[in-house]
Amino acid sequence: MKEALSTDEVLVFYGRISDFQDEQCLSVLSKEEIIRADQYLLPLDKQRYIISRAILKHLLSRFSGVNEQEILLASGKNGKPFWSNPFEIRFNLSHAGDGLVIGLSLEKEVGIDMERLDRIPNIPALETFLFTPSELELFHNLDPSLKQETFITAWTRKEAVLKASGEGLTKAMNELDVAFIKEKNFLMGKTAWFLESFTLMENYRGAVAGECQTKIVQYRSMNELNLQFNPAKG
Ligand SMILES: CC(C)(COP(=O)(O)OP(=O)(O)OC[C@H]1O[C@@H](n2cnc3c(N)ncnc32)[C@H](O)[C@@H]1OP(=O)(O)O)[C@@H](O)C(=O)NCCC(=O)NCCS
Repeated sequence: MKEALSTDEVLVFYGRISDFQDEQCLSVLSKEEIIRADQYLLPLDKQRYIISRAILKHLLSRFSGVNEQEILLASGKNGKPFWSNPFEIRFNLSHAGDGLVIGLSLEKEVGIDMERLDRIPNIPALETFLFTPSELELFHNLDPSLKQETFITAWTRKEAVLKASGEGLTKAMNELDVAFIKEKNFLMGKTAWFLESFTLMENYRGAVAGECQTKIVQYRSMNELNLQFNPAKG
């Protein structure tokens, strides 16, 4: 029986790649996905792709009632993966280190990003790439002890918005004034958006966004899904 997903919510599933086994995931991947997996040079990248694709397809199956093997994903705007489906389920995923997050929504596109807090970015080299001039002024006035975490939070907020629109990093981050907005709902031009930051796992920060307002974001651990490719759950 399929699980319900409503138009006023976004579900965010989070977990660790190392909690799953890639051999058991291969059965739900398409031929094209297996070819792509084989193109990764590093075994860890390959494993991450296989596991994240399999969990994504499991979730799409769970909320649509369609068998995982019948779910064929395509590549859309700037490579954003999508699934053409009558239920209008939309999704986006992000991986960083061992962490994986997947956002699911109905009808409206969703964007999600997560980064590690312990990977120290080269802030002087990147700050004008990330911040608008007014954000940069606020950033420069911060206590130095807050700068690294603030930088990563701002990065994930902007990337989540750009992943929702599908633009990804083809659009300039320093033209997007969303780093320090306090409200979850706001207008960008004439368009209504929601954007929420999250900390779901130690050492990781992320954000989820979409082109619509008043979305309730529900966070669920992947370990509660009782996946067949999660050895700990049998
Ligand atoms: C999307 C993008 C921001 C991802 O950045 P990242 O921080 O390295 O990676 P994340 O883990 O957060 O996200 C990767 C996932 O986002 C999804 N994704 C890919 N392109 C996307 C896009 N344009 N919009 C939204 N999501 C996208 C994919 O599911 C991808 O995972 P997968 O490759 O395992 O399927 C970046 O790849 C980008 O800007 N792409 C668009 C530009 C482009 O096409 N570049 C190609 C090289 S020139």
